[in-house]
Amino acid sequence: MARRTFIAGNWKLNLGPASSARLAEELVRTLADRGEVDVALYPTTISIPAVQAVLGGSGIELGVQEVEAFASGAYTGANSPVLCREAGCTRALIGHSERRQRYGETDAGVAAKTVACLDAGLLPMICVGETLQERDAGVAADIVGHQVRAALSALPADRVGALTIAYEPVWAIGTGRTASPAEAQEMHQHVRAVLRSLYGDVIADGLRVLYGGSVTPETAPALLGQPDIDGALVGGASLKAASFAAIVRASH
Ligand code: PGA
Repeated sequence: MARRTFIAGNWKLNLGPASSARLAEELVRTLADRGEVDVALYPTTISIPAVQAVLGGSGIELGVQEVEAFASGAYTGANSPVLCREAGCTRALIGHSERRQRYGETDAGVAAKTVACLDAGLLPMICVGETLQERDAGVAADIVGHQVRAALSALPADRVGALTIAYEPVWAIGTGRTASPAEAQEMHQHVRAVLRSLYGDVIADGLRVLYGGSVTPETAPALLGQPDIDGALVGGASLKAASFAAIVRASH
């Protein structure tokens, strides 16, 4: 089954409203002729309204980098899927390794947030990936398989179709060190095998598994050429229109 390529830009804690709007404007212009590829931008929360105002009918989607698992209430400082949907987001990142490592995100939290996003109409992208120690210890596939199973534990097959998985080896994020296309393909194939064991062929062959970790215009073509790599989650290289657009164009 043909899976449509998906290129996502995770701007992390960069770019306020004005500079986010400028970058989004440039991308709307530059990517107007992008063809058969899905593109989504994940600005920092404070910049979501500014980017939303620019994206208009461009077809470029808007996502939030982090949400809680509840809709509203006495949770000072939190973001909810319902309110992000109201602000124009259609997507959300969940379980990014920076959240897991620095903010204590747990597998149970990832599972609960996934359900809350689906309930609110946000399409979740679940991020998984092993640390360098785990890779060196030979347990990378076990760790990633566990993270995928745990994230999906609360989901029946009829709700899984809306998900995207992003495999991001922690040792490749922001380090300039990319997994080789063969290393990445091997893990993507493993993730798809886990999905197959949980939900069967139709879901496993239909879900998109993105690669993330120091993707650049130089590394993108070989990564995106792998049969089980369906796109990229791009951090650093998504902060400049030229490099992000080059990665989008590398996908076909
Ligand atoms: P990077 O970040 O491209 O800067 O390595 C990717 C990510 O963390 O999503």
